[in-house]
Amino acid sequence: MTPTAILDPAQLVDRTPARNVDDIVAKLYLHAWNGETKPQMLGRMQLISDPVEAADLLMQPDHFPKYYSFLTELGRSRLDANGADWEKRRDLTQPLYREAARTANRAPLTASYARWLTDDAIQSGRIGHALLAAASEIFLHALGGSIPTGPVADWLLTLRETAQFAQHVAMFDPSPAQHAKLREDVAQLRQDLRGLLIKDEPLKHYLHDRLVALDHSMDLLGEVTINLFAGVETTVASISWALNILARDPEMQAYLAREVALHGTDAPALSHFIQEVMRYCPPVPLLVRTVAADNQTLAGRPVAKGDLIALSIVGLHHHRDHWNDPASFDAKRPEFVENSYHRRAYLPFSAGPRVCGGLGLARAEVAIALGQLLQRYRVLPVTTPITYELSLNLRPRGTSQLQFEPL
Ligand code: HEM
Repeated sequence: MTPTAILDPAQLVDRTPARNVDDIVAKLYLHAWNGETKPQMLGRMQLISDPVEAADLLMQPDHFPKYYSFLTELGRSRLDANGADWEKRRDLTQPLYREAARTANRAPLTASYARWLTDDAIQSGRIGHALLAAASEIFLHALGGSIPTGPVADWLLTLRETAQFAQHVAMFDPSPAQHAKLREDVAQLRQDLRGLLIKDEPLKHYLHDRLVALDHSMDLLGEVTINLFAGVETTVASISWALNILARDPEMQAYLAREVALHGTDAPALSHFIQEVMRYCPPVPLLVRTVAADNQTLAGRPVAKGDLIALSIVGLHHHRDHWNDPASFDAKRPEFVENSYHRRAYLPFSAGPRVCGGLGLARAEVAIALGQLLQRYRVLPVTTPITYELSLNLRPRGTSQLQFEPL
């Protein structure tokens, strides 16, 4: 098995000025592969990709709070909150995510993917929808919910378009008309999701009771909306990247299928492959923070109050000093097989106090979904390289065109 490059070179073009958020992703990859690791400007943001600076940024959320203007357009939540407000919001959901991720609670996760990944869904090009429905079911169950999640998956597909538009509006100079359209679209989305969630009596009561017990109050709709999006889209993006990569390397796919047949979804070979997928194509390619006060430094370097600092996760994951041949995809990458990778240069789930709240759940889900698919199907080979799109998370295009042959 030879290491392969997987992203479409036609998309990886350094366009100045960037026309859209996909161009920004291209810059992240190209800067890293060209060995550009010093801080540099990217529009209004200072782009960093050094592991020491990354750790300094992420370990001090009071000095470098979150800055997520586009996300706030969609709803207030623990993702973009800071300080005491964030602590309240974290206390509402974090124990529930932790509970859902316990090894003793794996059976319902396996059952959700088995229920949604039907032969019909897989073979009729609806695997993307089925993955969204399964991950939404797991997410809502974790919060005490019980509504059927097919319509939630439909809603997430609509949200993708608005999220892409919101991100564009946040990063480029929007016209007043674009701003107005975004507000309109967001209001419609909120109303649509409210219409779905309002039917979920157990979810409403469970979360409401938790709020009362915690003596908190907040807009639950915003909180659930953004957590849903953050938890489900990223998980589905990881599985989709993995499937698209498997289609480009039949030999590796056969090897992983054998390992999963022998060792199940905990097969070390599968987890090394997933680690490499998330290194190469991190679903969250960029994290943005701001500088809270005057006279601050980042890893010893002065930074000004109000500066926007963008941490390139792609830059960390493709940093020449910390990865051997970073532009190649290697399912048996020695850094993972030997567990010798630089911990601060591998942050698919971020790190520090604001680390991903659902990382245990996400890791389990990705392995379960891929394990089930590898045991039942062969993804037919695709020879064209992968193109991507960014709308709040980075995902491959073309998952619904993949073809699956039963084993
Ligand atoms: C492979 C899948 C996932 C990836 C790659 C991922 C990645 C991330 C990253 C990078 C962040 C930090 C964002 C930032 O600092 O701006 C984050 C935050 C978060 N993620 Fe995930 N995530 C995944 C799955 C999930 C799941 C399944 C859930 C919930 C069920 C979840 C819930 C959250 C929450 C609540 C936060 C905000 C944490 C806080 O600041 O309180 N994520 N995630």
